[in-house]
Amino acid sequence: MPKVVILGQKELDVRPGTNLLQLLKEQRYDDQLPATCGGQGQCSTCAVRVLKGGGDPNQNEKEVLGEEQLAKGWRLSCQISVNQDIEVEVPGYEVAEAIQIEPELVRTVLAYAAEKIPLSELPSTQKITVKRLKDLSNRTESLLEGGGDPNDFEVLYAVFSYIGKDHRAQEIPELTGEKIEKILEAFAKRLPAEEEEIITYPYFLYVAFTVLFFLIAGLGIYSVFRDAPLEEPATPSFTPNPEKAPWYFVGIQELLAISPNIGPLTSVAIGGVIIPALLVLFLMAIPYIEPYLEFWRKDKSKPVGRRLRDRPVTTALFTLVVGAIIVLIIIGQYFRGPQWEWVLPWK
Ligand code: FES
Repeated sequence: MPKVVILGQKELDVRPGTNLLQLLKEQRYDDQLPATCGGQGQCSTCAVRVLKGGGDPNQNEKEVLGEEQLAKGWRLSCQISVNQDIEVEVPGYEVAEAIQIEPELVRTVLAYAAEKIPLSELPSTQKITVKRLKDLSNRTESLLEGGGDPNDFEVLYAVFSYIGKDHRAQEIPELTGEKIEKILEAFAKRLPAEEEEIITYPYFLYVAFTVLFFLIAGLGIYSVFRDAPLEEPATPSFTPNPEKAPWYFVGIQELLAISPNIGPLTSVAIGGVIIPALLVLFLMAIPYIEPYLEFWRKDKSKPVGRRLRDRPVTTALFTLVVGAIIVLIIIGQYFRGPQWEWVLPWK
């Protein structure tokens, strides 16, 4: 009978020809395998990583996953009949399965680290603070169930590898060297790998479409109860003073009004074309110039992290630009009256 090894932990003898997706569902690994096309080999939401065995990919797998993903071991579990020994990893379950420990133990270790380890000595690119360890402790369940931020695993990895070398850690009940090794191995799989790619569909698109759905539904319901604030139909014989652009353009109108004439360049050209174009170009260029903007980083060869604290300069500049746009819109909308003169909105 062929053997199926799941996440290097569970071993099952199965009947030849058993469908891998079916087996994973029976073993309750289906949380991360929605299989939305119902096993037709069309959607890729049943993708697992095959470490050994699995036979050759069929045409559906070649079309849906492409050569690159297949080379990395990704396969459509719904398309695999198990006829020989196979080893698989199900995305999102690595930690919980491989560790097989209680969240309580992770919490105990984090509390120990917060109290006894000189945190600045921990080998991590992430800044580790007592507050961070406490936050992690609160998120332990979700981390062990395969969720959470991969960067958190870097911190956990650093803490556990330090503890593995710290003889005083023997004080923590149930923490054996062997267990620490297993934990580190499992965490290592979740560490953010620079070259690693994740499949956009379905993991990212699920989130994006859920947000889109609620947004459209919310706006739809709102529009039933509120009419759009439209004014009277325009009459050619009457031009209101001031004539204001819609709110999203009124910022440009204000910018135009406050821009000076410089030589041959009129305020219209400066405020209406040059400054907005420069701002848009700057925002578009951020991804390319970001490593230079974040001048404070020691290792410039590493990519800039995605967290707020990894990119303070970019975040500050972006916030400044967006803040300036909002201020211009507020001024144009509420503080300008006839002849575009200053007025107070409450007068
Ligand atoms: S369930 Fe859709 S590809 Fe497998």
